[in-house]
Amino acid sequence: MPHSDAISAQRHHSRADQLIHQFDTVLRTLVPHAAQPSRPSPAGNIHDEAISDQERQHAAGLMRINHTGEVCAQALYQGQGFTARLPETRTQMELAAQEEIDHLAWCDARLVELDANTSLLNPLFYMTSFALGAAAGAINDKVSLGFVAATEELVGEHLSKHQQTLPEGDQRSRAVLRQMEIDEAHHEQWALEAGGHRFPGPLKSAMRLMSKVMTASVYRV
Ligand SMILES: [Fe+2]
Ligand SMILES: [Fe+2]
Repeated sequence: MPHSDAISAQRHHSRADQLIHQFDTVLRTLVPHAAQPSRPSPAGNIHDEAISDQERQHAAGLMRINHTGEVCAQALYQGQGFTARLPETRTQMELAAQEEIDHLAWCDARLVELDANTSLLNPLFYMTSFALGAAAGAINDKVSLGFVAATEELVGEHLSKHQQTLPEGDQRSRAVLRQMEIDEAHHEQWALEAGGHRFPGPLKSAMRLMSKVMTASVYRV
């Protein structure tokens, strides 16, 4: 085979590999219980105190929101990986994406314990976040990393609020959210250190508005 044909075949092959990997990640993100964490759940051997049925439903609503947030994070990193160049920070972004898979799996496991389902709207939010991540990545790496930083900041705010509004007795969900909050703060810091552009206030307000739509709907379905 001539040299140029070999290169083109190789390129074709790696593109096909990338698509298969992409499809695999979509499935692992959207099929309930399919995500495999690399770290054990922070809920570990922690015991819940008594929670009423109403409190359990409230906790499930909050954990469903956090689970969908992780679906969005996964889609954002995937979309970004598709278009952004990120030559120096790709490894770190991949590590962050792996930690998001941990979060996804921990929230999923907690929803099972709370006898609740993940959101039916996840495919819709996955597609939207993938498109936004890919669009930001296509503009340039500074915007793309800035989008990650702004998202992580927003997620951090939710996690902090949810730890306060979870039922008093729900110690297992609280332990999961506490570790997620620590990880998200790292992700935000990495994205900014890697050159992420700090998003202006109005853009952050628009993202807040979108997240309100997500949380209001996912709390129930
Ligand atoms: Fe996360
Ligand atoms: Fe994160």
